[in-house]
Amino acid sequence: MHPPTHVKDRLIVALDVETLADAERMIDRLQGLVTRFKIGSQLFTAAGPGAVEAIQKRGAEVFLDLKFHDIPNTVAGAAREATRMGVLMFNVHASGGHAMMAAAAEGAATAARELGGRRPIVLAVTVLTSLDRAALGRELGVADSVEGHVLHLAGLAAAAGLDGCVASPNEIGALRTGRGPGWVIVTPGVRPAGSALGDQSRIATPGAAAAAGAHYLVVGRPITAAPDPAAAAEAVLREMGA
Ligand code: C5P
Repeated sequence: MHPPTHVKDRLIVALDVETLADAERMIDRLQGLVTRFKIGSQLFTAAGPGAVEAIQKRGAEVFLDLKFHDIPNTVAGAAREATRMGVLMFNVHASGGHAMMAAAAEGAATAARELGGRRPIVLAVTVLTSLDRAALGRELGVADSVEGHVLHLAGLAAAAGLDGCVASPNEIGALRTGRGPGWVIVTPGVRPAGSALGDQSRIATPGAAAAAGAHYLVVGRPITAAPDPAAAAEAVLREMGA
């Protein structure tokens, strides 16, 4: 898969807000500038499919970031529903294994065929950025390095028919080399030069993440918590294009 041609379509704004009304206000403030929004477990738990519709009604696309992780049959069902909602992309945990990921890809493909619509981009979540080498070893019993395990899980995801993965700025280079140009890489932890880090530790500027080979960048608080979100989004887009 190729990255979108227009820089604008490579920016995904994370709507980590409490209510549908908050989400709608933010989408309206970014209208015309931002074409993709991410709905995570907070907003989806609060507002459900209405949050997806609010974005689509305004002509924008949805990354449904619910990180499905369950038995294959259940994940296939969730993948079908995400596809029926018409989202652009959704994700599953690679640690659910080959059968679970393959069920997600097939569930999405089946629903898309039934609808005569497009199959969403199906992404893997590899190693959560909140886990470091010590937690991977001591808590999860994984002997590999973080990068080694990320590459292993990305390979498993590719073999199961997934399109790409979510990856921190630190991992973009190795994944691009290992998985080739068509592998979709979606990168959070993006911070414009001079902005607050929040709780992100593995970060990159928009320009660096785009240049390293991320197809899509996910940016939340640097835009949504800015005094002028539209101006902040414009600045991020300028940095991405530069
Ligand atoms: O506000 P901020 O720019 O940090 O938002 C980043 C978004 O990307 C959040 O919705 C967060 O859940 C998500 N994310 C992340 N790190 C990952 C995976 C997802 O920050 N490894």
